[in-house]
Amino acid sequence: MPTYKIAVLPGDGIGKEITSAAVGVLKAIGEKYNKNFEMKEAPVGWEAYKLHKTCLPNETLSLCKKSDAILLGAVGHPDADKLAPEERPERAALLPLRKKFDLFANLRPAKVFPELIDSSPLKRTIVEQGIDILIVRELTGDVYFGEPKGISGKGDAEAGFDNMKYSRGEVKRIAKVAFEFAQKRRKKLTSIDKANVLSCGVLWRKVVEEVAVNYKDVQVEHYYVDNAAMQLVKNPGQFDVMLCGNMFGDILSDEASTICGSLGMLPSASINEKKFGLFEPIHGSAPKYEGKNIANPIATIMSTSMMLEYSFGLKNEAKAVENAVKKALQQGYRTKDIYTEGTKLLGTKEMGNKIAELV
Ligand code: IPM
Ligand code: MN
Repeated sequence: MPTYKIAVLPGDGIGKEITSAAVGVLKAIGEKYNKNFEMKEAPVGWEAYKLHKTCLPNETLSLCKKSDAILLGAVGHPDADKLAPEERPERAALLPLRKKFDLFANLRPAKVFPELIDSSPLKRTIVEQGIDILIVRELTGDVYFGEPKGISGKGDAEAGFDNMKYSRGEVKRIAKVAFEFAQKRRKKLTSIDKANVLSCGVLWRKVVEEVAVNYKDVQVEHYYVDNAAMQLVKNPGQFDVMLCGNMFGDILSDEASTICGSLGMLPSASINEKKFGLFEPIHGSAPKYEGKNIANPIATIMSTSMMLEYSFGLKNEAKAVENAVKKALQQGYRTKDIYTEGTKLLGTKEMGNKIAELV
């Protein structure tokens, strides 16, 4: 039986509950399709800090290195605010994980399930036209990682600074990923930048144009990020693939998920050139919902579907996860965030079990 090694990092807040629901679904897939998913857990984020005084312990990192893929819940906790900013879970665990494994390509599909049209904050007439967007976000560069970075000076002259920076090579490789996805989809690519103000955006646009020459079948357009944010709520149906830098992609993907019904529905894959990847929901650790069994596990479950497809090449298994999610929604099951009158409310655990059962 083929074996796939998965490092499971539940992390903070609702992380434990949502990953355990996703693990249940993976087990069901393994049984049905005769695959051995060898899953080992390790702490990350504030949970890890409490045990080892670091948000990314060496043992966790070495487990990831020995695995074929990583499944992550979420990191971040208010108690971690007492740490220095560079020691907090986001900057000391998540960003280093992305950087160490060179996970430059972050894929965030934002799709609206027909059953959830009424959960969208947008008018029915807009959502009914369909929303099916793939956000391709660059994940290892930009203002997140650019040097110099810091806070220095005194009094009113004290200044915080981060360097927005992209090299030709970095733009080229993420643009190629986006164009290749566009070719397999509706052949339209919208590249996002702020070329009217930022040099980084000027280079971004130029390189995307250069790459576009090799993808003549794909229609390319360039939007300034402010306009893109506005168009997303006005006419989301116009977008197919959206190519973004790290920060703009972060912001636009939250917006895209919300118009699809809930932040709790959007999965993500962060992969490198070798297709090794980290799979996680796009939402955070929501500490105030921790242990309450109300978080929506669907984003994490759909992230395992992306893992099956992108890291393991198991297309049928990936589809089976997606279909089970669809069925659960069609049968009227909802977690609190997507609940509407007349549907059936389930907790995190029960939703996970339901989807596993439907596999
Ligand atoms: C995301 C998150 C992270 C990011 C945070 C937690 C560092 O918001 O994955 O979108 O900004 O990339
Ligand atoms: Mn984000």
